[in-house]
Amino acid sequence: MEPMKITLVAATSLDGFITRHDEPGSDFTSPADSRYLRKILPRFDCCIFGSKSYRVAREWMRTRLMPDKLRVTLTRTPEQYAGEAVPGSFEFTRNSPREIVEDLRARNYRECALLGGGQTYSRFLQAGYVDEIWVTVEARLFGTGTQLCPGQFDIPLRLLAHESLGGDTLLLKYTLQQNPAC
Ligand SMILES: NC(=O)c1ccc[n+]([C@@H]2O[C@H](COP(=O)([O-])OP(=O)(O)OC[C@H]3O[C@@H](n4cnc5c(N)ncnc54)[C@H](OP(=O)(O)O)[C@@H]3O)[C@@H](O)[C@H]2O)c1
Repeated sequence: MEPMKITLVAATSLDGFITRHDEPGSDFTSPADSRYLRKILPRFDCCIFGSKSYRVAREWMRTRLMPDKLRVTLTRTPEQYAGEAVPGSFEFTRNSPREIVEDLRARNYRECALLGGGQTYSRFLQAGYVDEIWVTVEARLFGTGTQLCPGQFDIPLRLLAHESLGGDTLLLKYTLQQNPAC
């Protein structure tokens, strides 16, 4: 089967939170991160997110996030979203990361963006299906919030690139040194 690359895309505070405290969404991110996202997202042919992230940004995800591409939402109750599902465009699944990746590969998807949130990043990282991590680091400290990838593990990374997105915002790109799924 042809390989499919999965890139974890996230924006965090310097102390590693993807939300500011318990506020849903990513309103803390800078205009520089928004410009960067608009530039990179069209290169992916599919994306994956958890149902909490979907519910927070439903309207944006349905109308502006990667229109014409496949968007897969992870939920334990896909039947709850039956009215919103559109095969090939909006799909809802309780499948495991492995089953999702195998299905996407079999359907010839090649570039997948893993768009969060934290539970979803952790599930794919722990299953060994993340190839690269692209993190926008905003110059803020929150102390509390949703962690980038909650759980207990130790995944060695290799820095591929670092770039200033403008102002105080940094982009860091990493690859995983060992991908247990390979
Ligand atoms: N800053 C950023 O880059 C960024 C990116 C993305 C999201 N966010 C923010 O992060 C927050 C959400 O993150 P989160 O970690 O709380 O949630 P999440 O990863 O977006 O979604 C969690 C959901 O995934 C589903 N799920 C978990 N385990 C599953 C399993 N074994 N099988 C099937 N489905 C499973 C569950 O859906 P059900 O409850 O439906 O079963 C669970 O509620 C939001 O506020 C969002 O705005 C920030």
